[in-house]
Amino acid sequence: MKKHIVLLPGDGIGQEVIHSAQGALTALAEEYNHTFTFETHDIGGTAVDLHETPLPPSTLEACKNADAVLLGAVGGPKWDNYPSHLRPEKGLLAIRKELGLFANLRPVKGFKKLLHASPLKEEVVKDSDLLIVRELTGGLYFGTPSERRDNGDAVVDTLAYTRHEIERIVDNAFKYAQIRRKHLTSVDKANVLESSKLWREVVEEKKAEYPDVTVVHQLVDSAAMKLITNPASFDVIVTENMFGDILSDEASVLTGSLGMLPSASLREDGFGLYEPVHGSAPDIAGQGIANPLAMILSASLMLKYSFHMEKEAAVLEEAVHSVLEDGYHTGDLHIIDGHKVGTEELTNKIIEFIKCK
Ligand code: NAI
Ligand code: MG
Repeated sequence: MKKHIVLLPGDGIGQEVIHSAQGALTALAEEYNHTFTFETHDIGGTAVDLHETPLPPSTLEACKNADAVLLGAVGGPKWDNYPSHLRPEKGLLAIRKELGLFANLRPVKGFKKLLHASPLKEEVVKDSDLLIVRELTGGLYFGTPSERRDNGDAVVDTLAYTRHEIERIVDNAFKYAQIRRKHLTSVDKANVLESSKLWREVVEEKKAEYPDVTVVHQLVDSAAMKLITNPASFDVIVTENMFGDILSDEASVLTGSLGMLPSASLREDGFGLYEPVHGSAPDIAGQGIANPLAMILSASLMLKYSFHMEKEAAVLEEAVHSVLEDGYHTGDLHIIDGHKVGTEELTNKIIEFIKCK
């Protein structure tokens, strides 16, 4: 198969880990007779420096013409005090909105070799395997008005959702539950928020279309507690934008490191942007020690969801398991009697696995 992939390295370690994904994909293409072509564009702080905007029109145009997009990370202290339209994060919010990427999937699965590294007890995390489906283009992060009033001492952020926006994300989540363990937890705050009341109504209506899926409604505060006391009780979680943002970072403790969590942001037709959950990690950027596995697992999600290459996606995932089982890891992970290596060496181990497979 022939696929054209746009690479958006962004800032900090985004620039480093994107090479790892490209290397792994190139090796896979050789082994499985695909042609992957790559085109690199600027986003985030790097784009602000070069083009005076965090999302240049040329970047957006290239993404619209691609089969899929891989993104590293954006942001860093250099741009922290820039005016809001020049903040790197604006580039990320804008590209999600412009490309219509309303469904953010964040699979969270414990890796056997890393169980002991979680601050939670091993018996609590050991069977956790869940998928967070977060609504990505509505809610508080896209509120209007969002403003300061009365000399800046009063502030307004609005949380708006339409029935259509809720229906399409809930529908998506039901479909993922159907191909997993058929259990859906819808997280809201329906005891207080109007948006959550409509959310709950929609889930109740949709449920009839998916009779094989069990549905539980859970308030976000108790869901946050349950996520770390009984993570194995979750299969698919569906929730609005901000709740999903917070819960998915919380869920990252189950995997032992932020450097292990991939994500997919999808449109209705399956087009997607894939990125690690972590940020640009300015504290370790440029040192060649970033963990490339979240980025590589994001590439695996791309193969699965956008290209329907199930076998190739599984090989990448297996490669990650295998290098960890062999004890190879970057400094953010702790493996007892393991071999600590840099980004490039760990990537080479992944590529070796793909070639020997
Ligand atoms: P961060 O995720 O960049 O880093 C948090 C901690 O985890 C740091 O100690 C970092 O060294 C470590 N870490 C993260 N990814 C790692 C990896 N792959 N390998 C090894 N260690 C890793 O979050 P932080 O520090 O809150 O934010 C830094 C910058 O990134 C900020 O400008 C923030 O706005 C931006 N950011 C961007 C995101 C994105 O592009 N999607 C998401 C989150 C933050
Ligand atoms: Mg976040």
